[in-house]
Amino acid sequence: MNDEHAQLCSSAQWAEHIQTEVVPWAMDALAPPALLLEIGPGYGAATEVLRQRVQRLVAVEKDPELARRLQDRFAADPVVDVQEGDGTQLPFPDHAFDGATCFTMLHHVPSLELQDRLFTEAARVVRPGGVFFGVDSLGGPAFEAFHHDDVCVAVDPLTLADRLTAAGFDDVDIAVLAMGVRFSGTVPAA
Ligand SMILES: C[S@@+](CC[C@H](N)C(=O)[O-])C[C@H]1O[C@@H](n2cnc3c(N)ncnc32)[C@H](O)[C@@H]1O
Repeated sequence: MNDEHAQLCSSAQWAEHIQTEVVPWAMDALAPPALLLEIGPGYGAATEVLRQRVQRLVAVEKDPELARRLQDRFAADPVVDVQEGDGTQLPFPDHAFDGATCFTMLHHVPSLELQDRLFTEAARVVRPGGVFFGVDSLGGPAFEAFHHDDVCVAVDPLTLADRLTAAGFDDVDIAVLAMGVRFSGTVPAA
């Protein structure tokens, strides 16, 4: 993340936006999975609200400094387990989670191929019948300018359903609002 982006993502305003608008929209029609994997928690804006809805939350963050920061923050939390790791190569066995999620992080995964690998990994680690869901930002000139000197591969809402289906998800649902693209898909029952 560049400096402006880091400032935004660590701000109280961003946390409020994620917690009161984005996560509730993403989970609108979903039963909260008991054991949930969050990919790319960053400064923990979504982690803070997800932890209130699940029994156990494992958060995997690629940036070592952000992972350490979040580990310190949730060190005494019985619900949250923060691990340093990569969503495109998840360090978990098959079917380890009831669900997986990611918020405003896909555009930081530097190619469509790696994003597809993250989707395939999510489909692998979620149990049959479990759900993968989240929200990502919509692309555009202002969005790209904000990500100067940074990775920015926006997710195209028009191709996302096919990509999630190719990764192994059923019942894929896509919705678009000004705040972004919402997605969900279910791992087929065995
Ligand atoms: C824009 S931040 C969003 C953070 C948080 N989800 C939020 O909504 O505030 C994107 C985060 O995803 C992390 N990230 C990027 N690629 C990742 C990957 N392959 N696996 C895990 N985390 C990743 C980045 O390090 C960064 O912390």
